[in-house]
Amino acid sequence: MKVSYKTLGLVNTREMFKKAMEDGYAVPAYNFNNLEQLQAIIHGCGKSGSAVILQVSKGAREYADETLLRNLGKGAVEMAEAHGYRIPIALHLDHGDSVELCVSCIEGGFSSVMIDGSHHDYEHNVELTKAVVDYAHRYDVTVEGELGVLSGIEDDVEAARSIYTQPDEVEDFVKRTGVDSLAISIGTSHGAYKFTPEQCSQNDQGVLVPPPLRFDILEEIEQRIPGFPIVLHGASSVLRKYVDLINQHGGALEAAVGIPEDQLRKAAGSAVCKINIDSDGRLVVTAMVRKVFDENPAEFDPRKYLGPAREELMHMIIEKNRKVLGSAGRY
Ligand code: G3H
Ligand code: 13P
Ligand code: ZN
Repeated sequence: MKVSYKTLGLVNTREMFKKAMEDGYAVPAYNFNNLEQLQAIIHGCGKSGSAVILQVSKGAREYADETLLRNLGKGAVEMAEAHGYRIPIALHLDHGDSVELCVSCIEGGFSSVMIDGSHHDYEHNVELTKAVVDYAHRYDVTVEGELGVLSGIEDDVEAARSIYTQPDEVEDFVKRTGVDSLAISIGTSHGAYKFTPEQCSQNDQGVLVPPPLRFDILEEIEQRIPGFPIVLHGASSVLRKYVDLINQHGGALEAAVGIPEDQLRKAAGSAVCKINIDSDGRLVVTAMVRKVFDENPAEFDPRKYLGPAREELMHMIIEKNRKVLGSAGRY
């Protein structure tokens, strides 16, 4: 069955990115797999007046069920309206790995897709990305491509080292593929362990400080494709508060390091129009569930442990939109 995102009340990312570029902020793309995460994202972005990209990976789509997911997207729009939130909402496929998957998502109501050909050689990446763009644009669905490889897990492939985006490829890639936005590699990384302790220095309090992002590469890219929307993946800050809470309540997350918030704030003021956050949300949920179970081992009502997780996730999202992405108060 084919469903246009337009009939679900969703929007593509074109206008969102145009406004973000003009006003110097980044739109948050929060990953979700379940009801509580979705509720937290809608309330967090609605209450803070931020546009939002609801982001679904291939694995999340399989986990949540594609039919239910389409209806969750529709439900999210209706829920936002019912609460008086006047924010644009996009439903986006994260790290699509084939034309078939992108087509299936577009037919199932997604308003935006990512085709991640970054692990292929350049010509194959161009070909794959163009095939998705040609199909998606028939339905006014926006497409994100990627150049450069992030370390960590991406597209079911684990890369040990980042391969930074080569600025001299971006103009040709954008022109030949027709993509609407471009994910780049400038030192961010997926997951909660973005850097080894050896890659970091230590500040006065003994906290690990990761190497700075390569803003020089970002600037060069901006010069080659002025005004073109750039995307940052692997942009969770791995907030200390939640890592500590997890460890205090029986967890074992050692030496987890993320991207410092000031680096992300700086990026959001540039051509970076979309910032992807998954791990920070996972850490919040895990911290709160662990805390409830640790403090009340007899608890077995899911609402009693997922409810506090949902509440805390909403607060984290509001803070991020306000203090890091600058997307709050724009709608
Ligand atoms: O970049 C990957 C996202 O964090 C999604 O992760 O494939 O485990 O859902 P996942
Ligand atoms: P994090 O693992 O840093 O949250 O990155 C998420 C991401 O890039 C999803 O595509
Ligand atoms: Zn990613």
